[in-house]
Order: sequence, then C-alpha cells, then structure tokens
Amino acid sequence: MWRSGVLIAFGFIVGLIIRFTNGEHLIGLGSYDMTGPAAGVNMMGYANMEQVTAGVHFRLRARTFIVVDGIQGPRFAFVNLDAGMASQLVTIKVLEKLKSRYGNLYTEKNVAISGIHTHAGPGGYLQYLVYSITSLGFVKQSFDAIVTAIEQSIIQAHNNLKPGSVFINSGDVENAGINRSPSAYLLNPAEERARYKFNVDKEMTLLKFVDGATQKSIGAFSWYATHGTSMSRDNKLISGDNKGAAARFFEDWFASITNSASPPVGDASAQEKAKAIKATGGQPCGKTTSQSFKVRKNGEGSRFVGAFCQSNVGDVTPNVLGAFCTDSGKPCDFNHSSCHGNDQLCVGRGPGYPDEILSTKIIGERQFQKAVDLFNSATKELSGKIDFRHVYLNFTDIEVDKDGNTKAKTCPAALGPGFAAGTTDGPGAFGFQQGDTEINELWRKVRDLLKEPSQYQVDCQKPKTVLLDTGEMFVPYAWAPAVLPIQILRLGKLIILCVPGEFTTMAGRRLRDAVKQTLISNGEGEFDDETRVVIAGLTNTYSQYIATVEEYTQQRYEAASTLYGPHTLSAYIQEFSKLAKAMAQGTTIETGISPPDLSSVQLSLLPEPSGDSPPPGKKFGDIKQDVSSGSFKKGDIVSATFWSANPRYDLLTEGTFAVVEKLQDLRWIPVYDDDDFDLYFKWGLDNATFFGLATIEWQVTEEATSGLYRLRHFGSSKKTNSSPIKYFTGTSSAFTVS
Ligand SMILES: *[C@@H]1O[C@H](CO)[C@@H](O)[C@H](O)[C@H]1NC(C)=O
Ligand SMILES: *[C@@H]1O[C@H](CO)[C@@H](O)[C@H](O)[C@H]1NC(C)=O
Ligand SMILES: *[C@@H]1O[C@H](CO)[C@@H](O)[C@H](O)[C@H]1NC(C)=O
Repeated sequence: MWRSGVLIAFGFIVGLIIRFTNGEHLIGLGSYDMTGPAAGVNMMGYANMEQVTAGVHFRLRARTFIVVDGIQGPRFAFVNLDAGMASQLVTIKVLEKLKSRYGNLYTEKNVAISGIHTHAGPGGYLQYLVYSITSLGFVKQSFDAIVTAIEQSIIQAHNNLKPGSVFINSGDVENAGINRSPSAYLLNPAEERARYKFNVDKEMTLLKFVDGATQKSIGAFSWYATHGTSMSRDNKLISGDNKGAAARFFEDWFASITNSASPPVGDASAQEKAKAIKATGGQPCGKTTSQSFKVRKNGEGSRFVGAFCQSNVGDVTPNVLGAFCTDSGKPCDFNHSSCHGNDQLCVGRGPGYPDEILSTKIIGERQFQKAVDLFNSATKELSGKIDFRHVYLNFTDIEVDKDGNTKAKTCPAALGPGFAAGTTDGPGAFGFQQGDTEINELWRKVRDLLKEPSQYQVDCQKPKTVLLDTGEMFVPYAWAPAVLPIQILRLGKLIILCVPGEFTTMAGRRLRDAVKQTLISNGEGEFDDETRVVIAGLTNTYSQYIATVEEYTQQRYEAASTLYGPHTLSAYIQEFSKLAKAMAQGTTIETGISPPDLSSVQLSLLPEPSGDSPPPGKKFGDIKQDVSSGSFKKGDIVSATFWSANPRYDLLTEGTFAVVEKLQDLRWIPVYDDDDFDLYFKWGLDNATFFGLATIEWQVTEEATSGLYRLRHFGSSKKTNSSPIKYFTGTSSAFTVS
C-alpha cells in the first residue's frame, strides 16, 4: 500500500514536472484606467510650465502580467504604465499596498513597474524636486490615479492566474525611430559601431500569452525603443502618445477579430446598454450610468491586454523625418541641433508633419502592425525557470574599474547645460545648446545662488560642466535620487533588465551584451546564444539618462542628463553583472540601502478646483454650440460644446467624458468613447465669461456605419469645496453619417 502510494505520488509529481517543464506556467493579465486629472495639471516630460492638461485624446492605462513558475514556484509581476516614467514614491506606495494585501508574495524584488515615456500624461507624481518643479510640486490626484491603477491591474492579474503558456517572437520595426544625437553616437569606437547596421535598435521583442485550457490568447507585451514624443510640448490633451496608441489599436484589433461572429467592438453589450437607457427612462444621468455606458468593457479582468513597453530609448526619436530649422526649413547644425546658435528653432518632424496627432497614429500603427505580425507568427515557447534579482545601490559613489588597472567613481547627480538646451523633440531654454561644455557668467551666478558645486563634484563630472548640482541639493528636499533599484527578471530564456532611466542605443547594447556573457559563462549551460536580453526602460524609479563614456564627451542632451558622471554606464554594467552572476549561480544578493520615502515633505502648490457653477439660466450639460450641420461624411469633424464643470471633481476612472451614440432600433446605443482615437474631449474656460466648457469632437471614424448619431458629454460638479458631487450629462442634436 505504502509503496504504491509513493508510486502514485511520484507519478503525480513527475506528471506535474512534465506539465510545467513543458512550458506551462501560471499566467495572469490585468489592466486598469490611470488617466488622472484632465484639467490644469502640468504634463510630465517636456518640463514646459504652459503645457497643462485640457482634455483627453485617449485614456492612459496600467497593464500587468504575472507569471508563476509551476504552481508554487517563484513569480514576478511586470507592470507597463502609460506614464512618462516610473516614480520611486509610486513604487513604494504600491509595494505597501501589495504587502498589506498579499504579504510577501509581491515585493520590490519581483515587481517591476515600467513607464512608456509618454510626454502627455499628468505630472506631479515623482518625489525628487527636479521632476516636480514645473507641476508646482506634488499633485496628489495624479499620484493616486497611478497608484490605484497599478494596484488594481495587479489584483486583476493575480485573480486571473491560470495555467498557460508564453510564446516569444522578435523582428524589426521599420521607420518608427531615428537617432536624435547621431553626432554623439559617432563618438563610439568604429569597431563597435561596425557590429551594428543602424544607429538605433529596431528590434521589437514580443511575448504572447495563451490560456492553457481554452488555447485562446489573453494578451501580448512587447518591448521596442522609441520616444513618446510624437505629441509636442504644446499639446494639452492627455495621450499615451505612440505606444499608448499602439496598445489601443492592438486591443481593438484583437477584439474585432475575436468578436467577428458577434457585433463589432463597441456593440459587445448593446443589449445591456439598451437596458441601462431604458431603466433611466431614456435620459441617463449619474456616474453609474456613465460607467455602464463605457464602450469597452474594461476593468472586468478578462479582456485581452496588449502592452507596448519602452526600452533603451535615450537617443531615439519618433520624429523620423529629421530635425529642421523653423525659420529657414533647413536641417539643423549637426553637432549642436541648433539654428545659427539658437536651440529653440531646431525641431524634429514626425511622419505626419505638421499634424502631431497623425504622427502619433502613424508611429503607433508601425509598432502595432509589427506586433500583430509577431503575435500571429509566434511559435517559440518560453519554458524554464522564473527567477529575479534586485538590489538598491547608492549611485553617488560606486567604484568602477576604468581600464584594467585604474579605478574611477560615479559622482553625486548633476545636470549640464545640454540638459537646459532640451532636444529636437522639445527644445528647452533659450541660450543653451546641446554639446555646450561651458556656461556663461550669468548662469554661473544663478547656479551658485542655488548651490555652488563642490570642487570634488566639479572634477568628478568632467567634461560635463555642472549647471544644476541636483545631487548636492537637499532644500527643501532632495532634488535628485541617489539610491536606485536595478533588477533582473527571468522567464525561461528571456531576461528582462529593469533600468531606472533612459539608456542610449549603444549604452543599452553594452549592458545587454555584458549581462548575456555573464549569464552564459556562469550558468553551466543553462544560458546560451538563444538567451534573449531585453531592456525595460524607465522602470521602478527615474534617474534620467545613461550615455556611453564616449558619448559623454560631447555633452549633448543625453550626456548632460547622465546624472552620475562619465562612469555611470560602467557602474550599471558592473552591478548588473553581479546580479546576473548571482542569478546564473543561484546565489542571493544583499538588498542594499532602501531609497527614502519623501511623501511627508512634498510641497503641493497647485490648488484643487474649489467649486463650479453654470452660467445664469443654464444647467451643466446644456449646449453652448450645437453640431454645425445635420449630416456629415466619414473623415469630417463633428463637434458640440457644452457648459460643463472641471473634470477633476470625478476623474470618471474606467468611465468616459465623451460618447458617440447611434440610433439603433429606436434606442441610442453608445458606439465610441473618449478612449477612441477619433473622439476628443476638450476642456477649457469660456474666454469671455470664464465658465467651464467641454467640447466633444469626433472625426467621423472610417469604420462608422451610416445612420443617425449624436454626441453626448458626461461630467461631474461641485458647487463649493464641501458640496457633494453631482453628475450631469448633455447631448447634441442628432445628425446623419453617410
Ligand atoms: C562635429 O564635431 C566634430 C568634432 O568636433 C567635427 O569633427 C565635425 O566636423 C563636426 N561636424 C559638423 C558637421 O560640424
Ligand atoms: C549615498 O552615498 C553618499 C556618499 O557616500 C552619502 O553621502 C549619502 O548619504 C548616501 N545616500 C544615501 C541615501 O544613503
Ligand atoms: C477664445 O479664444 C480662442 C482661442 O484663443 C479664440 O479663437 C476665440 O475666438 C475666443 N473666443 C472668445 C469668445 O473670445
């Protein structure tokens, strides 16, 4: 008896091992709305104080996948944020929430939170001062929206965990990124450059997740490097830029192919919505109605999740037509990206130039199309171990090997004048040029007023001239990070390097190569040439750029923003190699010193909206300007303007401010919402009366079927700070689309 019991148990275990070593892991995906405040909040990315949110082009989301080795083995969670970058404080708060919910299942070691680098999301969610000056400090509403979305997307992914498999595929994305600092790239050794065909990495690596029971795909995550700067520094609509757009297109494409037997996207639950309208007597109002009107059934945990993640993006711009002088139309100066000495006249052009929305769409589509190809042809299954290594490092003084014999050190963080010059994606302050290694007497005085750098710092940062000594500035609180996390995640033969910044193309290649070689030489056959290494950029916290030591000599924007001096990249390579070695040998790594939680000292100078009223004789939701005609064609722009209140009273998370409704069987059915690329919610004050206005603008979608339509706005208001929130809605007159 006993023996047969053992045999049965043995057989069971062998069965499990075969089942799981055959590539089956537990996998779970999740996704949650993190759009945030759509009025009056500075956007994160260009550091342009005038760029404040004024509506929504399409929504921002946090998308997560979790993989578990076998049933009880190690796991990790990877979160892709439609945000400029990860934030240390966001990461700290998310980890606290996960700890109280799941104990030690999800910690800093096995959770990675990565930003797509859109420059069109609400800012004020980072804790170091440099990153919240233009947002007038910390913005709690931005922060909370992001923390909640990450937590909710992880909860969904966790609750969705089921046996399944992961497939990997890769291929080149054409014409979605060029090098914006080619003169710096050329400073890398000729032999090294000769190993690569291009001065940017074109490769996209994609994971496809398939449910083990149904064999249906449940999601895909891809990594590819191109900046989220298709939208310019003048844009005021919240947008996920080209990667957010690619994700929207991919998820909608998947819904359209899987629902082809049933009604198309948007009509998936037409009956349910029809009931909702009926229940409110055909005049829906109130938040719950707005949410039940959501065209996409998000947030229910079972939708297909498609994410486009960022990589070694440092010197890669999506403005692929090149940079030109706005006065002469000629190409800019090659070494300085300026026009007769003026950095502000040199601006990059996207493929839809001069239409930035079109550029966003085109660069999004190029990534989306490649992802579809890779998704449809993915056959290589990722089996094998799930593992991770993580460490916190104080980057202020890491000792590195310089050239065999001599040692060098990293420095406290500092920014050079090339930082102030900005880039061809978003020129910075007047009077600076990329490549400057000197600053004039006036700026030197201004700098010294803030903080005169120590002699040690001046020498350490050379050839960068210190313009802002952020690493030595602590008043009122730290201006720049000192402690950074680095992390390696392993999913079979895929290695994900989570870096807290923007590696340039060549810096990223060196890091990937070093990690791969370390894994192969220490892994006793577990790793080989088939091992793939991807960089997940802007992950867990943010510390700006990482250029190679050669690129650093030119001090263009990326080098001037390489915080910890010329040997920053060497320090990363050295420390990542230690993690890789530990992973290959199965040893552990000391956690290191934790980064500070600066939440209690944050300054917040941006006021919250304090109450709104409609103009005399009007109600919120009343029309100010109706649609201009009774009939429109595809591609036309239809718009209507409503008296409305500040959209910050209720962010309508997982809801919508704007809907296009279509008359079907005598009922108005919602067919598009503010997450659609062709539908815009624009917010502003009437410039004569200063009352709030919401404009709903629809560029009639190519796929729209002919019929009778109308535009609808949803909003919420508060009379004073202490009044309860009220919800309202308004509709335009009906119009035909032919
Ligand atoms: C750029 O700078 C390098 C190094 O100073 C110089 O050799 C080169 O001629 C410059 N190129 C142009 C186009 O000005
Ligand atoms: C990082 O290292 C520097 C130099 O040793 C030290 O002054 C600083 O206090 C450290 N920072 C933290 C947060 O430990
Ligand atoms: C409000 O400002 C916009 C843009 O500056 C302008 O086009 C419009 O005519 C102004 N409207 C009024 C009523 O002043």
